[in-house]
Amino acid sequence: QIQAVILSGGSGTRLWPLSRENYPKQLLTLLDNDSLLQSTLRRVDPLIGTECSPILVCNEEYRFVIAEQLRMMGRRGSILLEPVGKNTAPALTLAALEAASHGQDPILLVMPADHAIINVQDFQDTVRTGAEHAAAGKIVTFGIVPDRAETGYGYIKSGAVLEGFGSAFSIEQFVEKPDEATAQQYVVSGNYFWNSGLFMMRATVWLNAIAKTRPDILSSCKQAWDGQQRDGDFVRVDKLKFQQVPSDSIDYAVMEHVARGADNLPAGIVIPLNAGWSDVGAWDSFGKILPQDNAGNSHLGDVLFNDCSNTLAVSSGRLLACVGLQNIAVIETADAVLVIDKSKTQDVKKIVEQLKVQK
Ligand code: GDD
Ligand code: MG
Repeated sequence: QIQAVILSGGSGTRLWPLSRENYPKQLLTLLDNDSLLQSTLRRVDPLIGTECSPILVCNEEYRFVIAEQLRMMGRRGSILLEPVGKNTAPALTLAALEAASHGQDPILLVMPADHAIINVQDFQDTVRTGAEHAAAGKIVTFGIVPDRAETGYGYIKSGAVLEGFGSAFSIEQFVEKPDEATAQQYVVSGNYFWNSGLFMMRATVWLNAIAKTRPDILSSCKQAWDGQQRDGDFVRVDKLKFQQVPSDSIDYAVMEHVARGADNLPAGIVIPLNAGWSDVGAWDSFGKILPQDNAGNSHLGDVLFNDCSNTLAVSSGRLLACVGLQNIAVIETADAVLVIDKSKTQDVKKIVEQLKVQK
């Protein structure tokens, strides 16, 4: 039995001006009629029995938008509300406590709410392979073949080939967010995958792992969990207790330790994922998931290109005309327009910081 766990806490500041503080990127309808969150749910439908509703973990602030997006899809789910963001390790710990609270031990398919996957069929096949290994007590990661020395990702060095269902490797090393020089070295070596940020493991496997690596996170999450209040699909954990929870990510809190093969920890494995994955992290990676014309231009909305190359133009209302541009992204919204060199798209967060100071 697979249970979807959707992590939906981030605000996606690098997709400003489309993503905003009160409307983060996972809730935007960027590509089709679904938001990234809705596509995330839909793409796993055939893997998950209709009787197993998803667990969503999100900030209290977004509860109505998330509930509304589920309702529009005719879905129910447990929506775990965090009073503050404590990063992904506590979020997954809450989800695992919820999943294990019915006396079952489902396989959790942990998915960030804000990723795009182009080849859904390939993705589903890969997840099926993952489920076989997760059922056997392993922590499964999914590896993407890197095409640049991105420092915002985790890097997984694959080890021995594992026997059994589909292609899978042991994890020899897991390094979260290396510096530029190290990332460069990893990419050149050809032995490393990017960590996709998707994970699979049984609920109790996660709880046992975090009990060993970060008992402080587990015990404080349990206290917050014990003080929960239920209100329809919403599960509110105890606010004061949750504020005490140390902040850390799945990657630092558990995966780096698992990869070191520390005593009594479950084995970690990596399964190559070749399905057109993008974490839609910034405008350049967003451009890559859109169809491109012969000159490498991509667009959304009402856009005209003349003599442009490698340009991304997104219009959310007005006609956007681009002439003679190279390697530029132009993003039009009702109240803000971003024009940015494509090599600088990570720096959008600096603008967001500047705006916060002005406010
Ligand atoms: N509920 C909840 N609460 N969700 C959260 C929180 C939180 O406090 N913090 C982050 N999330 C969600 C984000 O919305 C996103 O969907 C997912 O968890 C991952 O968090 P990010 O903040 O986007 O992580 P990252 O991009 O820095 O790094 C992770 O993803 C990379 C791939 O995109 C790591 O797993 C890297 O190793 C990986 O390469
Ligand atoms: Mg991310």
